[in-house]
Amino acid sequence: VVVCGGFAQGLTVLCRALRSLGVSVVAMEDPWVPAHRSAASATPLTVVSVPVDGEGMRVDALATRSPGAAFVTPAHQCMLGMAMTPGRRAALLRWAADAGAILVEDDYDGEFRYDRQPVGALQGLDPERVIYAGTASKTLAPGLRLAWLVVPPQLADAVVEAKRLTDGLSGALDQLTLADFIESGGFDRHIRRMRLRYMRRRDLLVAALAERAPALRPSGIAAGLHVILSLPSHGPTEDEAVAHAARRGVALLGLGPFFADRDNHVPGLVVGYGTPPEHGFETALRSLVDVLGELWPV
Ligand SMILES: Cc1ncc(COP(=O)(O)O)c(C=O)c1O
Repeated sequence: VVVCGGFAQGLTVLCRALRSLGVSVVAMEDPWVPAHRSAASATPLTVVSVPVDGEGMRVDALATRSPGAAFVTPAHQCMLGMAMTPGRRAALLRWAADAGAILVEDDYDGEFRYDRQPVGALQGLDPERVIYAGTASKTLAPGLRLAWLVVPPQLADAVVEAKRLTDGLSGALDQLTLADFIESGGFDRHIRRMRLRYMRRRDLLVAALAERAPALRPSGIAAGLHVILSLPSHGPTEDEAVAHAARRGVALLGLGPFFADRDNHVPGLVVGYGTPPEHGFETALRSLVDVLGELWPV
């Protein structure tokens, strides 16, 4: 296990390690976090973006681009929110085995799962080929900058060397504090408490949308801290909705910036519900649905 300063650093470390192992092209899901795509592009690797469909990353499109590694979010696609289906997982692992490629499983919010049994890690299906990446950013705080990479033994030296070249070592005090929190059972209790709290927020959000802006169908709601609202074909465009909300003092986020390829772009809004403090959540929710109700009236 290699501890890093957030997944953001883990990504750069992995790109350096992959380069040292002879990889020159890496694939990333489209959509994905633009900052992560840029961070990978700033390394000597070429980044290719691969579209997703309702089952996850499209393995047929991946295969045509012949990357040496692929970054995926199988538990909760970032941003669209679906879980990768068992069939797609099997196809992805088959592709990786045939191509001699490495998979990086970015499990950024796997602890918050509401409606279904936990989705097993891809890494468990092929631990020799899949690097698992976890982070404390959603469970505790993004400001902690603590993430971990579970690396197959044959890749460990390259990843440790890349981490050493990047910043030597992540802070021991933060790691020891987190280890103590886990061992004491406090972390587990915190996750259980927060899971209930976030599930209640998610339920309030879904109910308020159904009442005030039923044309907007939330998806990706089974896990994580955000939902996606796909835009109906009638009414304002994504940009118009974001601009209107900004004029009303509500910061809406469109899906557009998350797509590398405009052809893959499905218009939608990203609504995160983790950030407001508990006492401010219902007020924030009211402001949101007031604006959405103006844009897509019942
Ligand atoms: C897809 C994805 N991966 C990983 C992370 C976590 O990144 P970090 O650990 O650098 O905060 C996030 C955070 O929002 C994310 O959206």
